[in-house]
Amino acid sequence: MDACALWERYKTYLVDHPSLGLRLDISRMKFGPHFFEEMAAPVERAFDAMAQLEKGAVANPDEDRQVGHYWLRTPSLAPTPEIATQIEHTVARIETFAQAVHSGKIRPPGADRFTDILHVGIGGSALGPQLAQGALGKSTDAMRIHFLDNTDPDGIERVLSTLGAEGLSRTLVLVVSKSGGTKETRNGMLEVQAAFRKLGLAFGPQAVAITAEGSALSKVATQENWLEQFPMWSWVGGRTSQTSAVGLLPAALQGFDIKAFLAGARDCDEITRLRDARRNPAMVLALMWLYSRSAGVAKDMVVLPYKDRLELFSRYLQQLIMESLGKSRDLSGNVIQQGISVYGNKGSTDQHAYVQQLREGIHNFFVTFIDVVHDAQAAPTFVEDGQITSGDYLLGFMLGTRRALYDNDRESMTLTIDRMNPRALGVLIALFERAVGYYATLVGINAYHQPGVEAGKVAANEVISLQKQVMQSMRSSKQAATVEAIATSIGRPDQAETIFKILEHLSANPGRGIKKHPAETPFNARFEAVD
Ligand code: PA5
Repeated sequence: MDACALWERYKTYLVDHPSLGLRLDISRMKFGPHFFEEMAAPVERAFDAMAQLEKGAVANPDEDRQVGHYWLRTPSLAPTPEIATQIEHTVARIETFAQAVHSGKIRPPGADRFTDILHVGIGGSALGPQLAQGALGKSTDAMRIHFLDNTDPDGIERVLSTLGAEGLSRTLVLVVSKSGGTKETRNGMLEVQAAFRKLGLAFGPQAVAITAEGSALSKVATQENWLEQFPMWSWVGGRTSQTSAVGLLPAALQGFDIKAFLAGARDCDEITRLRDARRNPAMVLALMWLYSRSAGVAKDMVVLPYKDRLELFSRYLQQLIMESLGKSRDLSGNVIQQGISVYGNKGSTDQHAYVQQLREGIHNFFVTFIDVVHDAQAAPTFVEDGQITSGDYLLGFMLGTRRALYDNDRESMTLTIDRMNPRALGVLIALFERAVGYYATLVGINAYHQPGVEAGKVAANEVISLQKQVMQSMRSSKQAATVEAIATSIGRPDQAETIFKILEHLSANPGRGIKKHPAETPFNARFEAVD
């Protein structure tokens, strides 16, 4: 299609919502002229399903749960007045708490102010706050935020040593886990508690929990008299929890405008409820995802925001989309193996990395470009001919890459937002949450459960049990033995490989009481418990 025809297609299909500061251009997706008409019936079903979900239907049948993240920004939509009150009350408590922390009314025992936040959580309990920090964080924020989102001792040590003894005495620790039983988060919390003990600091007066009522984490927080607890409700999923306390508390503590953030999400919800598919940007996104696989081959989604502040958006979307849509069965139990692979970082940086393959290599993707109109530069700095800025180059690179890809038959969409601020972040999050919901109905899956994640957790627990069994047996035998002999001695010859990995890890680390006697091959090495 030549440039003039593309311009006409742009004008025909542009989804433009100035009230949201949002435009979605799908002209470079090559769907046919009757695509929207052909999709009319499934689209109607998706609108109906979404309306039911918002009214409080059990939209996550496996877990028998309602799905209520939309109520978080419009509490009046909640199915009961009690839920609406809980939502409003929690937002008010968050604001009051943040003000008290900022004013020093709530302060750590050994300092006059909390200056830092240490957010301990993983997956949906971390990615939203990490995205918000990247998108909105400034050097002048009310508090600095740090994250522990893994059970990697080196990563934990790196964050704790950045804070140092002085910093930790002024740090408010947020432990965030809906289930309250996630091991990575529990381990992060225990590591921080150990660091506090070493420094003679009391943990409770510096700790806050965000978790479900009655969870293991909630019980610990109550027993240890933590500063505060904020709720995670059963009807909010982790990956759609950024407009709950999970996202709002750290944001309010950092000094971000949470009212504007919620308003952005609420206004986007309103527009993405429109039962006019062509004007509804979330439905258009979902339909483009569907179109991208209509040739029978699933395509990857490359997310390319031309904005440093949105570098983490692809990671955020990776979880939201892949955990929600990566499912083996549809709602009737048929095997369908659905999913959209999502990756990307930011432009133009990625142009010097994988864009080469996008243009010339395997043709298995479509790109979602994200363009932010305002450069957020107080006054221009000219880098060329006294009239060209770095921001002009950023736009030039985006348009150039888009064109180079299109010229080689690679499809893309472009999402344009006016500027990056709390409201826009609310809009973006709400837009993709609803697109995921619509797409799930279009392909007939449950977007709100994650059975695959559970399988990995169960298997990990089995590894830890096996490790305990191996250590106990080796401590009582006190003899050096090969992995195979140890596996046989505990009646687990089928687990030799796992035991090999466990012993390799234990013997490589100090203080674990396992010594390795190397041999000519790794498999003949003998391991021994030592004091
Ligand atoms: O989206 C999800 O449900 C997951 O990514 C969870 O957020 C993640 O597993 C962490 O769970 P929890 O908040 O229970 O610790």
